[in-house]
Amino acid sequence: MIDIHHHLLWDQDDGSTSLETSLEMARIAAADGITHIACTPHANGQYAYIPEEIDAKIEELQRLIDAEGLKLKLGRGCDFHMTYDNIQVAHEEPTRFSLNNGMYLLVEIPDYALPRGLGETFYEMQISGLSPILTHPERNPTLQQEPELVAEWLRGGILVQVTAGSVIGDMGRRAQKMAHELLANRWVHFIATDAHNTSSRPPRMRQAHDVIADKYGSEYAHLLCVSNPLAAFMNNAMPQQLEPINLYEDEVPNRSWWQRLLGRY
Ligand SMILES: [Fe+2]
Repeated sequence: MIDIHHHLLWDQDDGSTSLETSLEMARIAAADGITHIACTPHANGQYAYIPEEIDAKIEELQRLIDAEGLKLKLGRGCDFHMTYDNIQVAHEEPTRFSLNNGMYLLVEIPDYALPRGLGETFYEMQISGLSPILTHPERNPTLQQEPELVAEWLRGGILVQVTAGSVIGDMGRRAQKMAHELLANRWVHFIATDAHNTSSRPPRMRQAHDVIADKYGSEYAHLLCVSNPLAAFMNNAMPQQLEPINLYEDEVPNRSWWQRLLGRY
């Protein structure tokens, strides 16, 4: 399996706090069946994103991983927050934050008070050659209330990543419900760990893979955990996808339909 969202590097953000923790996270991931990890530190007002520093840490950690004989290849990406400053830099230098300097970019939107015209921002990113991957919409309280926004952006060609922990209930009941609604509609392209440590946010995705295989079919599970993330990691075109459900105008679920499902009313 390929993990495209992972806070593996030490002292870079709120992820790993030491080189030893990073190495332990790598061991857990490898034992879980993960073969590739994109190290994706946050880039936001709190954490600076300096590719050269990140690359040096990746090199150091990769050497230790290789010395242990773990079958694990590291790459670089970014947990890119949609701040005004970040968006400006991404326009000027589109591959600065992208996965292995290719076309795929993880994007995290704010929990509340979404900036206006996000669809347009995604479109402008696409025009500059990027393929935005919306991270964990199932954990976003605004999108839990307004899942039709996800549908709108999907129709515009954005890709969706769901957190492995959400699928198995580790991120709370609401996130789990929405994760499964997204999965049932085949609105998801990637499962990733978004691991931050070895315990509360661990680097595992096998259990989520198996739940998805069980409920939605092994072909879909393989796409989400292997083929799609490998394409993103290698900067290749996305493989042929399974047809999404309820995505086009006359089929889009209305809010009350969703909210009934989410148990709000
Ligand atoms: Fe993250």
